Amino acid sequence: MLTIVVFLSLVYGLEGADVVLSCSLIEEGGGMGGMMGGAMFKRTPSTLVFRDLVGNADLSPELVTPYNPPETPNADDLIFELMLPSIQIPNADLLLHADCNEQEVVCEISRYVPRGADMDSLPAHFIGSVQLVGGGISLTLVLQTLHSETAQSDTQPLVQSKLNLTLSQSGTLLTEVVFVVFSRVPSIVAPIGGDVLLDCGFRQKDSVPGQEVALEWRLQHRGNGRKILEMKAREVETDMAPDVFVDREGTSAEADLLVRDGNASLTMQRLKVTDEGTYICTVGSGEFQTQQIVQLQITQPPHVKLSEEKLIFQDSTPQKLSCHCHRYYPLDVQVEWFFQVPSAEEPVSLTKESSLSSHRQHSDGTYSLSSHLTLRPDKHPPGTVVTCRVSHASLETDSEVSLTVDEPEPKKAFWTIIFMLVISVLFLYQAFRGAEN
Ligand SMILES: *[C@@H]1O[C@H](CO)[C@@H](O)[C@H](O)[C@H]1NC(C)=O
Ligand SMILES: *[C@@H]1O[C@H](CO)[C@@H](O)[C@H](O)[C@H]1NC(C)=O
Repeated sequence: MLTIVVFLSLVYGLEGADVVLSCSLIEEGGGMGGMMGGAMFKRTPSTLVFRDLVGNADLSPELVTPYNPPETPNADDLIFELMLPSIQIPNADLLLHADCNEQEVVCEISRYVPRGADMDSLPAHFIGSVQLVGGGISLTLVLQTLHSETAQSDTQPLVQSKLNLTLSQSGTLLTEVVFVVFSRVPSIVAPIGGDVLLDCGFRQKDSVPGQEVALEWRLQHRGNGRKILEMKAREVETDMAPDVFVDREGTSAEADLLVRDGNASLTMQRLKVTDEGTYICTVGSGEFQTQQIVQLQITQPPHVKLSEEKLIFQDSTPQKLSCHCHRYYPLDVQVEWFFQVPSAEEPVSLTKESSLSSHRQHSDGTYSLSSHLTLRPDKHPPGTVVTCRVSHASLETDSEVSLTVDEPEPKKAFWTIIFMLVISVLFLYQAFRGAEN
């Protein structure tokens, strides 16, 4: 889906790496009607070409395959050619390496109307949303059309049939990135009680010094939305305090990092289960405003323990053994049982014979659960190793706890005690008699 291109800039004689993405142009295609009242969207295949996304410094030649623009420009083609004039997108090289790592890229383009503009005003604007599936980088780009160099020839410039916008001589829609909101960690997992930084940043072309930047972080979870933080800040000489609203204890964003570095990250301390969800980072500056999504997932590994430390069969009575999983999150947990008798080579599963308790939820949102098993002396002779294995999203490797069935207290011991008693009595008797004489 992703082709890497070396673009030879004839004007400057420089070599840079371009990235070509297969995208969809998304349009609201109203009027189809009938489908549960939901809006209908029309998708048209399109192409997004980043010009000189990454310098050629770290490029190995075998990474690069040539891109051929269409030989005959076509008014139906949708090729968005992107210039990154003064904007440096951090970690953009990940897009370049995605192909080698066989990482899929999701790319969508839609129309965008900046504040104070209307749909027909020129230059036209688009939003390009580019996400590396599986994490790495997620970008929301505001694209602004450029006036293509006026053709010297008398031929009429080509006009894109769907968008009614003038195309360049090579049949592309020339645009430049004027605003971008990005996250280098669009999905993050953190433990209960820990701290987390939700990564979000922005870059703007021609940002006006002293311009106000508005930042909002919202949490969406199971259909509910809540504003977590809102901040309005501007870079000024005087120490004017930024305008901040926070609706969660231990939550902050840095006003000076926001205006100086374009760093809109949110810090949250002492995480709770209720902090889990989809966070939307919205940055507005000047006429542009757009968003980036960061997913926060909370996990807590179970504390796994067996109900018994020792297991001894004194007679033929079966014995119960439980495996307790304490205070974990999220809910899904898998408990398996195995046993292995000393002479066997392979452990045998006992999971089918076990029974699960229902989940208990604690006030902090974590869960506990137990699995019970009945062991029989005829099937599980001394030396048998019984293992409880627990798998959970928070555990890189499964958690295992085992015990070994012990030898029963030997019967010999009883006779030894009787024997010792008899000896002692005889000895005392002898001693007594000796004393009498
Ligand atoms: C296409 O755009 C031009 C101006 O750029 C306008 O005059 C014309 O009416 C537009 N055509 C359609 C079909 O919207
Ligand atoms: C924002 O600043 C924090 C703390 O210095 C840093 O860890 C993070 O990577 C920065 N993020 C962006 C997007 O600049």
